[in-house]
This record gives sequence, C-alpha cells and structure tokens, in this order.
Amino acid sequence: MTLHDKFGRQITDLRISVTDRCNFRCVYCRSADPENYREHEQILSWSELGRLARIFVNLGIEKMRITGGEPLVRDGAESYIQKLHELGVPDISMTTNGHLLSKRVPSLIASGLQRINISLDSLDPIKFEKITRTRTYDSVMRGIDAVQASPLAPAKINAVLVRGFNEDEVEAFAAFARDRGVIMRFIEFMPLDADRHWSRELMVPAEEVYRRIHAQWPLVEIPHAKSETARKYKFVDGAPGEIGLIAPVTQPFCGHCSRIRLTADGKVRTCLFSKDDHDLRALLRNGASDADIEEQIRGVVTEKEAGHRINEPGFQPPSRTMVFIGG
Ligand code: 5AD
Ligand code: SF4
Repeated sequence: MTLHDKFGRQITDLRISVTDRCNFRCVYCRSADPENYREHEQILSWSELGRLARIFVNLGIEKMRITGGEPLVRDGAESYIQKLHELGVPDISMTTNGHLLSKRVPSLIASGLQRINISLDSLDPIKFEKITRTRTYDSVMRGIDAVQASPLAPAKINAVLVRGFNEDEVEAFAAFARDRGVIMRFIEFMPLDADRHWSRELMVPAEEVYRRIHAQWPLVEIPHAKSETARKYKFVDGAPGEIGLIAPVTQPFCGHCSRIRLTADGKVRTCLFSKDDHDLRALLRNGASDADIEEQIRGVVTEKEAGHRINEPGFQPPSRTMVFIGG
C-alpha cells in the first residue's frame, strides 16, 4: 500500500523525531531550553515508535530519518535503528549535531544506519560556540572525522547561512568539503527561527553561494532525482567532496515533496510550515487497532498542504519554533 496526498504526491519519506531534548542550546532554537522540555510520558516510548514505524512501512514509507532534538541523547537510538532495519526499511538515516557522534559511529553502523547528516553552522570555533552556546566544536569535528573514517562516509554537513553572521564562510565551507571529502550542503535560512528575526535580507540565496564557490573552484552539476531537495555539484578539478545547495525559499520544491514528519510527542506534521499537527498518540494509548491508525494517517496525508507560502504576501510563520523540526 502507498500513501498519496490529494495533489498526487506519493509520500515515501518520514522524519521521526525521537526526542525533544538536546545537548546544544542553539540561539535560533528554543527546543534546547530545558523549560520547554515535555514531560517524559508525553514523548512516545520506543515501543510506540516501533509500532508506528511498522505501520508506516505498511503504508509504503521507504526512507526514515531519525531526528530530534538531538537523537543521540536518547538512550536506545541504536536499538530503534536496528528495529527499523528488521522491518526492512530500505533507507535509514539520521540528523545529529555531532557532539556525541565520535564514540557512537561503530554502534550506529552495527545497528544498520546507512547515512548521516551533521549540522555545522560555522567553522570558526568561537562563532560555533556562540551559536550552540556550548563548548563542543572539537567534539563535533571528532564526530565528523569518525564518520569519514567509517563506511558511513561521506558525511553530509548542513550549514544554514545568515547574512552578516556566517555568510563570510562560504568559501571556507567549500574548502572544508575539498579537504575532508564531505558533502557540504548549504540550506537557505527559513522563517522558523525562535526569535522571529527572519527576514528575506538575512537569507543567503543558493544562487549566490553557487556563484561564489564556482568563482574560486569551478563546479559541475551532478544529476539529482526529482524528489531530492539538493542541487548537487562536484569540483571540476577533481578534488574530493561535493557541494549541495538547498533552496526552499528561492526555489521551492514543494511540488515534488515526498516528506512528512512524526513529532516526538506522536503527532504527524505534513509540512514544516503546517499550522496544525495531527495526533496519533491518543490513538496509540486508547487501544486503537493498526487499521484505525493507518486510516488516520491516510486521512491526514490526503490533506497535506500544497506548499509553504513564504513567498506569498501576508505569509505568517507557524507559531512554534524549531522544536521538533528535525533535519
Ligand atoms: N532554516 C533552515 N534550516 C534550519 N535549521 C534550523 N533552523 C533552520 C532555519 N530557520 C536546520 C539546522 C539543522 C536542521 C535540523 O535544520 O541547521 O541542520
Ligand atoms: Fe539542538 Fe538542532 Fe535545535 Fe541546535 S537546531 S538546539 S542542534 S535541536
């Protein structure tokens, strides 16, 4: 069975937030503030998450990405990945801030993890520590090194550029891709920040990132699948590494969106910019059958929004912040 929305998009890709907690306190993300943490019983148990994964597999989900908060702070992440593996999920990935990664790479690989994304918004340790409000630059670098020395290589490194803050690091990030052989991805800043500071002027368009890198190290495009969010490039001079440009604001890809999200407290979110989420936890805890839950998911997915409206007049961001965004 497969999941489709009313626009005919097939949903094959699920982001599962396994915790709202995080060991960073990124300035743009209130989810890291302990006063915003939910009670433990509000968060789905591993067995509830396992049951939902099985249901989603039956509904044709092929890709599952584990996110948070920071997924590696919740004990049991590896066992959960193992469970997804046993369910036959063809593509299992994770988005992490990298702080706990270096020691966990072997257990993550053993559990069946296939791909990993690491968020890294600055290569300047002082700036990095200002953003994350933790002294973690070195441990994140060790995490990246550990991935690069493992079968999970190449790591995908995600950076969000903010004008006047880290926009000067475009070339440094590209050099990092070349030196380390990682896939360096630039994501346009979206109006999802906790402080509502977003403005179009703060966003660095993907086109500008392309021009700057291409001027220094010519790039050649690598073909990408329709549903992929990133335009991909390699270096013409044959250097290792890859550049990915993700332009949700200037080149929205909503028309090809194949994604939905499950929040840590058991709600389905059909778009990053949804105003409302759809609860599955009550069903799980009130004795609903798998068929009931499947029916609920189908109904919710049918109504997935056509796309975000960042570029439309009168756009209003969702009232929540980055909490549970996942990668
Ligand atoms: N716009 C774009 N990407 C964002 N991320 C966090 N906030 C935003 C935003 N406002 C990214 C993080 C991380 C992933 C979880 O989402 O940098 O890579
Ligand atoms: Fe943690 Fe990610 Fe939020 Fe930063 S953006 S505080 S790493 S959940």
